[in-house]
Amino acid sequence: MTVRGDARKAMGLAALCAALVLMGCDGRSDGVLPAAQAAPASAAGVAPDPQHGLAQPPTQVGGQSRAEVFEAVRHMTALGKQMFVDPSLSGSGKLSCASCHSPGNAFTPANALSVQLGGGDLHRQGLRAVPTLMYLRSVPQFTLHYHDSDDDGDESVDAGPTGGLTWDGRVNRASDQARIPILSSFEMGSTPGKVAAAVRAAPYADEFRKTFGSAVFDNDDATFKAVLQSLEAFEQTPQVFEPYTSKYDAWLDGKAKLTDAELHGLQLFNDETKGNCASCHISQPTKTGAPPQFSDFGLIAIGVPRNHAIAANRDPKFFDLGVCGPERTDRKEDEYCGLFRTPTLRNVALKKSFFHNGIYHSLDDVLRFYARRDTNPSEFYPVVGGKVRKFDDLPRRYWANLNTDPPFDRKPGDAPVFSDAEIKDVLAFLNTLTDGWQPAAH
Ligand code: HEC
Ligand code: HEC
Repeated sequence: MTVRGDARKAMGLAALCAALVLMGCDGRSDGVLPAAQAAPASAAGVAPDPQHGLAQPPTQVGGQSRAEVFEAVRHMTALGKQMFVDPSLSGSGKLSCASCHSPGNAFTPANALSVQLGGGDLHRQGLRAVPTLMYLRSVPQFTLHYHDSDDDGDESVDAGPTGGLTWDGRVNRASDQARIPILSSFEMGSTPGKVAAAVRAAPYADEFRKTFGSAVFDNDDATFKAVLQSLEAFEQTPQVFEPYTSKYDAWLDGKAKLTDAELHGLQLFNDETKGNCASCHISQPTKTGAPPQFSDFGLIAIGVPRNHAIAANRDPKFFDLGVCGPERTDRKEDEYCGLFRTPTLRNVALKKSFFHNGIYHSLDDVLRFYARRDTNPSEFYPVVGGKVRKFDDLPRRYWANLNTDPPFDRKPGDAPVFSDAEIKDVLAFLNTLTDGWQPAAH
């Protein structure tokens, strides 16, 4: 399997790591955050596993035993579940997390809008398509230089910027993530004070007090923090968010048969000279036998076309450049412009808008983009005065950031990566990634 990323950088970092072995750069750490900083010991908190994943229950937290921690987490989960669907937490009183992250659609919107509407009057447009909330526990913490021990067995390879939550990886904890939509003027448009008042008046107020102690209502910030922790705990419910019940999982377990079309699609998906999809959307179980996540969580530029359905894009000077901003503000360097986190493809068939800007509304269109972006660019980008304006959502000075591995290695005149028949088979394969598969009743 080819490894995405810049070979020059990889070698540079291998050398750097060799030099740093004494200081503990063993290539295994998930990155820039030292463990202690990454895992603050918050009393009722669910601290992240510094090695992998955004959060795991700790063994001993703030003097509590493991059993006590689990009991607290169980209560927080039950509370978070109620808050997730509670519109009273929003400024408008009309929007809950579930309005955008609909449980019946793998926690993505039930509608096919590219971006959702929010704010006080529910008329303000967001900037980005809503990602699924499923399988997020495997997302590593954001790091600029990722070394994967699972993937290729070669930990000296630097896979580049990887991980973190949201399309640009700008937060590391689900509780910090939850703060964003609650406070965002174009999403739930609330304030810690409004949230605290809503919780005090909610049917679950007593349960909340019992779980966090009566002092939790003494000040709004403490209440707000407990709300965020509860939402985070809920988002880690394995049965809800990580069921691993797709046909593909059953097939990996030897409990299902893939059809010829599905198998052919899988082969095209894995083939390094065709789709090469699995180089980023990993399809094999890890070395330790954990199920594949269909993402390596890399932050990658693939040149998705500009979406004119997004109001902000009416300003020709506005560009959503992912890691380098404007939503994210700590990585302004040119080399991070145009990078977005590779999404999981688990349950992708339940989505109604694709890519960070929601430009496509069917998987067929997404697959055509991959198959024909470089061979038939005029099908995807505007043609002005007879010339195709390729990569119209990424200013030219950042084009060096675009990935050039297959399937992005063709030019006009080459055969498309997939024929129409092959696209059908890849589509059939992607449909095996939907959870809730049942063996056909006999
Ligand atoms: C108005 C729609 C909307 C609402 C309401 C909303 N979200 Fe989101 N959510 C989004 C969008 C859009 C993103 C992607 C943001 C980005 O990339 O900047 C997102 C991203 C996320 C992510 C990160 C997913 C990933 O793949 O990294 C999490 C976790 C999340 N939301 C949880 C929540 C929770 C919890 C709530 C309720 C408190 C909530 N969201 C409410 C639209 C919404
Ligand atoms: C070099 C890494 C890379 C390769 C190779 C790659 N992808 Fe992706 N994929 C991404 C990234 C990054 C995104 C998000 C891009 C964005 O929104 O700007 C993405 C997004 C997607 C989406 C949209 C998912 C969603 O939730 O919106 C689908 C579907 C998809 N890829 C399928 C494929 C298929 C099929 C192939 C092979 C033909 C493939 N990818 C090859 C990195 C890759």
